[in-house]
Amino acid sequence: MPTGRSFNFGSLLIVTLLAIVGGVPQWYNSTDGRQYLIDGDRKYNWFEARHECARRNLQLVEIETKEKNEALLAVLKPIFGNSYNLWLGAMDEYSRDKNFERPFYWSSSGKPMTFSYWSDNNPDNHKEDEHCVHTWASKSNYLWNDNRCDHQRFGFICEDHYLHAEQQKMLSEKVQKLRQPNAKLFEEYHLQQKEYSEKLSSLLAENEAGEMEFKEVLHNIYTKLEFDISHALAQHQREVNSLVENRNEAVHKRNAELRTFNEEMSKKFSKELEAAKIVYDDVLTV
Ligand SMILES: *[C@@H]1O[C@H](CO)[C@@H](O)[C@H](O)[C@H]1NC(C)=O
Repeated sequence: MPTGRSFNFGSLLIVTLLAIVGGVPQWYNSTDGRQYLIDGDRKYNWFEARHECARRNLQLVEIETKEKNEALLAVLKPIFGNSYNLWLGAMDEYSRDKNFERPFYWSSSGKPMTFSYWSDNNPDNHKEDEHCVHTWASKSNYLWNDNRCDHQRFGFICEDHYLHAEQQKMLSEKVQKLRQPNAKLFEEYHLQQKEYSEKLSSLLAENEAGEMEFKEVLHNIYTKLEFDISHALAQHQREVNSLVENRNEAVHKRNAELRTFNEEMSKKFSKELEAAKIVYDDVLTV
């Protein structure tokens, strides 16, 4: 039994810590990577505690190994001190057996309890009415006790439901399995993409070279065409010029001929006019 003084100190500590916990279940991380939802409010019988967990898709904690127990104690001690009354997920299926060795079971997974952490002289099944398991404030270090499932009012510890944990494990294994071919696919895709882009850029380069060549040929054709056209134009010009020259010459010649003819005619007519005038004068002078 603790001394009066340290008992009072313990009570004070518990009151203070209860104020911190505040009756609202809170999550705590364990050093082994587990997480626990813990409510220190001592108002639940075992079934209520179980349902508080179940409503959150959780289960009352199942402590299958010494390692898990020790890690959990390391979570509990900073919250509640040396010990505290908290329901665990184990019971004896209402056994009437008072034997300490009677079987207990973890109630969510249904697995028989193999690791145990009983306080001295427990589980005693006092009055054949103690079937549910809790960490015991009356003993140090959160040692376990069997107690009345329906009447005792304790806090509780929930953890991730074992099915959820199994599903998570399966899922992560599947993801791992999927990841490998996926990575391979990804790599292949990248390789193909690289190949494709190389091909594309080589085609583009080829295309560009082809276009340059095409432009050059076109340019040559245009140049030649231009030359041919100007050559042909010059030829035509020459032809037109010579045609015009010939024509001018012919016109000149004709003009000259006309002029000569005109002169001859005028000479001829003036002679005849002269003769006619003499005749006329003669007639007048008669
Ligand atoms: C517990 O660990 C998780 C990461 O796993 C983190 O997100 C969370 O904040 C931690 N909670 C507390 C109360 O430390």
